Amino acid sequence: MTVESQPSVSLETAIKVETRRQPMPPRERLEQIFDIQDLDAIYGSKAAVKGVTMEVYKNLVTAIIGPSGCGKSTFIRCLNRMNDLIPGFRMNGSIRFQGEDITASSVDPVAVRRTIGMVFQRPNPFPKSIYDNVAWGLRVLGMKDNLDERVERALTQAALWDEVKDRLKASGLSLSGGQQQRLCIARAIAVEPDVVLMDEPASALDPIATQAIEQLMHDLKSEYSFVIVTHNMQQAARVADMTAFFSISTGGEGQRWGELVEYDATEKIFTNPSDQRTEDYVTGRFG
Ligand SMILES: Nc1ncnc2c1ncn2[C@@H]1O[C@H](COP(=O)(O)OP(=O)(O)OP(=O)(O)O)[C@@H](O)[C@H]1O
Ligand SMILES: [Mg+2]
Repeated sequence: MTVESQPSVSLETAIKVETRRQPMPPRERLEQIFDIQDLDAIYGSKAAVKGVTMEVYKNLVTAIIGPSGCGKSTFIRCLNRMNDLIPGFRMNGSIRFQGEDITASSVDPVAVRRTIGMVFQRPNPFPKSIYDNVAWGLRVLGMKDNLDERVERALTQAALWDEVKDRLKASGLSLSGGQQQRLCIARAIAVEPDVVLMDEPASALDPIATQAIEQLMHDLKSEYSFVIVTHNMQQAARVADMTAFFSISTGGEGQRWGELVEYDATEKIFTNPSDQRTEDYVTGRFG
């Protein structure tokens, strides 16, 4: 695709793929962490997402983008059985996580959430001290050895330690929004999960806090795998190695459901997508 053919919101400028993102390893060298096959996510009798088939790779940042209501949050919450908490929710298809189908009823959702942590759109620290917020999961799991060290490590990894090391006993709620979100990230990574899911983690944050969160994903992906929902194209282009574009399909009787349109290396999605719907979305002509 030539630059001349780009619509007014040029990918070259608006969605600058930053150089700090290293080139992706070749696909055959990537290790699969999730193998999702023909996944439907259904609330009551209404499918929110249908037929999603994709692999998520280890030690990468994977972005989920798409218009409001296309099922991004529903989808990401399937990955750690978080939707189980919603009455009437069910899934068809399979989600193999490191080989095991975590949609199976025999699988303990609490155990799944220990290895697949989650950070939400709104920072939700517990009304406890900064220290206790981070130590909470460690205590629940009985990971009580070297508690101070583990708390410090998680806060350092979440790029918050320097700002809070002198007030660890202060309430988590006394922090700014951006700090609270980093505290929630510290809480999620303290228990050493394999995957951290983030649903629009920076949407309520200022550009500096947003940048801190993007930087920490970049710095930590050698230890964790991240799946992030974002409405911010520049953010997806900056942080994600792989990007999945979801869109809304419509059927008879006014039915609407989300489906995966295109999934590829971020660079490809943003500069040379295969599907017209992806191009329309990433260039701002739709959604
Ligand atoms: N708890 C719920 N109960 C019933 N339907 C729901 C529930 N949560 C979401 N839905 C429906 O599922 C569909 C997808 O919603 P979802 O929140 O996953 O979309 P989204 O892509 O995350 O949107 P946004 O970008 O606005 O956050 C919508 O039609 C929504 O109304
Ligand atoms: Mg959402």
